[in-house]
Amino acid sequence: MLKRTMFGLVMGTMVATLGCEKPPAPAAPETAAEPASYDAIDESMVPVEKPADPAMAAPESAPEAAENPAPAETKPAEAKPAEAKPAAALPKKVVLGDPSLTAGIPGEGKLTLEQISAWLATPGVHETLEIELPFGLSQASSSIKGIDTNPMTRAKIELGRQLYFDGRLSSDGTISCASCHDPAAGYAAHTQFGIGVDGQQGGRNSPVAYNRILSDKQFWDGRAESLEAQAVGPIANPIEMANTHEACVETLKGIEGYKVQFEAVFGPDSLNIDNVGKALATFERAIVTGPAPYDYYAAVEPFLTQFTPEDLADLEDDDPDLYERYSRLKADADAHPMSESAIRGKKLFFSEKSNCTACHAGANFTDELYHNLGVGMDAEKPDLGRYEITKEDKDKGAFKTPTVRNVALTAPYMHDGSQKTLAEVVEWYAKGGHPNDHLSDKVKKLDLTDQDKADLVAFMEACTGDFPKVEPARLP
Ligand code: HEC
Ligand code: HEC
Repeated sequence: MLKRTMFGLVMGTMVATLGCEKPPAPAAPETAAEPASYDAIDESMVPVEKPADPAMAAPESAPEAAENPAPAETKPAEAKPAEAKPAAALPKKVVLGDPSLTAGIPGEGKLTLEQISAWLATPGVHETLEIELPFGLSQASSSIKGIDTNPMTRAKIELGRQLYFDGRLSSDGTISCASCHDPAAGYAAHTQFGIGVDGQQGGRNSPVAYNRILSDKQFWDGRAESLEAQAVGPIANPIEMANTHEACVETLKGIEGYKVQFEAVFGPDSLNIDNVGKALATFERAIVTGPAPYDYYAAVEPFLTQFTPEDLADLEDDDPDLYERYSRLKADADAHPMSESAIRGKKLFFSEKSNCTACHAGANFTDELYHNLGVGMDAEKPDLGRYEITKEDKDKGAFKTPTVRNVALTAPYMHDGSQKTLAEVVEWYAKGGHPNDHLSDKVKKLDLTDQDKADLVAFMEACTGDFPKVEPARLP
């Protein structure tokens, strides 16, 4: 009886701690297995010698097999499949972050037509994927956007990957999406403003291009209704890629490798700007943040805070399954530790005292809404943000809440890139933002000690997880 109550307590707390919009399915005990399966993803990149479990098929193996359709018996002896089988289809079910989605068509150097054709003929690449989010972000699974109207397939993600890194989408061939949303810079850029063709600059900082699968309206002011609509914007933006959609499509049509991929992914005569947007959006949806020390800690925290060491010892006898689950969570958390400072910072971040989660809510730490913190409002002609789209007074100077996941990698901060460090951001909140007529009523002067401020920074740093392995260079 007591045991059940305690278990209920644990689950209840997990829900509250993770701040998710919807309680996870009652299958919560399974979440314990997730970190393990996510870790296992890396192993799937290791060339397998044994016949691979279809769910773990090495991404390399299938395309190679397709390129070289030798019967299974002629494979090296170690591969000895029990019976001769055709190349296993790449799995339909996949956890985003799996490198087989974004690490590119196997091989080296420029993509050849042969490699592309073999890839397009690989069983499974055109199947609509059944995706899951990685542990941590998975708490937001009910908020996935856009995949009903633009289903994810491996071939579409791969096409989007190539387009994302291809400077030929710009007028002079020099600027790609990755110029301003660079994986090496946390899918953002370490410059105050985006720098486009001919070194031109706008007035806004490059936001991150990851975890977009949880977001529908795009841009700091939400002016693009979808990721697809957003993706084609920069191509024709005179200060970004400075091209026209027509010229961009003409260029792509001149590249045989793209022609065959568009045809295979979208059908005949499908190389048009809308499908460029769909492919780019699909690649971006595959870029998600892996589990962070915060996620591992949050999963085990209820056990640590609500059970005494004696309770835990009793648990080993009373409920071996629950104890086993606790042990696994504890081991995962120990392997990805949060500092004491980060643990204090977590408590503060989720408290009314700091009020951070009034806006940075849910598993991706954003309400996807627009707020005025006063950033840039002291300028002579301030950027009015969301107001320019809605013309509603309340939206003056309001910008979309960015995620806090992996934010430690994406300095500088805010829509105008005016704040250089996380410590500077925390100071901004401590002083209550910048006073102006439209300041959010959720932003108030905070009573924080220097230690509190350092703790908040440490917490945000502990929200950093791995990005998927991505191939930036191989293009047709
Ligand atoms: C010259 C730099 C630059 C280039 C090139 C560029 N972007 Fe951006 N991107 C920005 C800036 C700056 C913003 C914010 C603009 C705004 O909000 O008004 C932005 C916004 C975005 C957003 C919105 C994110 C959010 O949180 O709302 C996405 C997604 C994005 N870009 C993806 C892309 C893709 C895909 C490409 C290539 C087709 C691309 N960008 C090319 C600088 C760039
Ligand atoms: C009223 C809603 C709200 C509250 C409360 C809030 N934030 Fe924010 N946060 C935002 C918005 C909106 C932005 C972007 C503002 C801009 O660029 O003008 C932002 C920006 C940030 C950024 C910069 C991210 C980036 O990519 O540029 C960080 C870091 C951050 N907030 C952390 C915090 C912390 C820590 C707290 C609590 C002390 C907090 N926020 C409280 C809404 C909020």
